[in-house]
Amino acid sequence: MPIKAFLFDLDGVIVDTAIHHYHAWKRLANELGFDISEEFNEQLKGVSRVDSLNIILEHGGLTLPDEEKRDLAIRKNEWYLELVSRMTPDDILPGVATFFSEVRKAGLLTALGSASKNAPLILERIGMSDVFDAVIDGTKVEKSKPDPEVFTRGADELEVLYNECVVFEDAVAGVEAGNRAGMFTVGIGSPDVLTLASMVAPSLDELTVDTVLEQANKPQ
Ligand code: BG6
Ligand code: MG
Repeated sequence: MPIKAFLFDLDGVIVDTAIHHYHAWKRLANELGFDISEEFNEQLKGVSRVDSLNIILEHGGLTLPDEEKRDLAIRKNEWYLELVSRMTPDDILPGVATFFSEVRKAGLLTALGSASKNAPLILERIGMSDVFDAVIDGTKVEKSKPDPEVFTRGADELEVLYNECVVFEDAVAGVEAGNRAGMFTVGIGSPDVLTLASMVAPSLDELTVDTVLEQANKPQ
């Protein structure tokens, strides 16, 4: 099937909010008396707020009542919002603007597929609210990546088949979600981490739409 749509993760692909999530979670872990490393943080990428908190608490060997967990998630989000509230269009990652103009020229549809409930706010801060043909964020899905729901819903809204889509993802869980949806996955980051992606590039800056289409349209 020729590719008709590109589906983008937000955090770590369009903007570097991944680092803000990490700093806010690290602050929370430190307050609880333990630490998390950048390496540990890889498994939190793409994972919902509540699932991330559970993974962190397990790492720290803590079992807490639901009410306390709710409060912790709210605190982490407040710190995170403090960090993202200062974002501007200057925070869009290198190569994104050029890549999106190529996407438009190629006549492809686009969707955002983000686990974040803050995605609409971030899109507004960086001036990209009107860029996507469909926006699926953490408020619209029931299941978190690596479940494919965020991407299958995006494809459904765009009215394209799953194998007509390419997913751009910086997270291991997100690549798995795209793969499970039956989509071609472009890992944004390191090939040592994103081992299951169909292809990998360090950033959108290093990619052209033609290069991606050439690979994705090859018979698999
Ligand atoms: C994903 C991030 O995009 O969104 C995760 O990669 C984050 O790190 C998740 O936990 C949920 O984000 P939010 O903004 O709803 O807490
Ligand atoms: Mg991401």
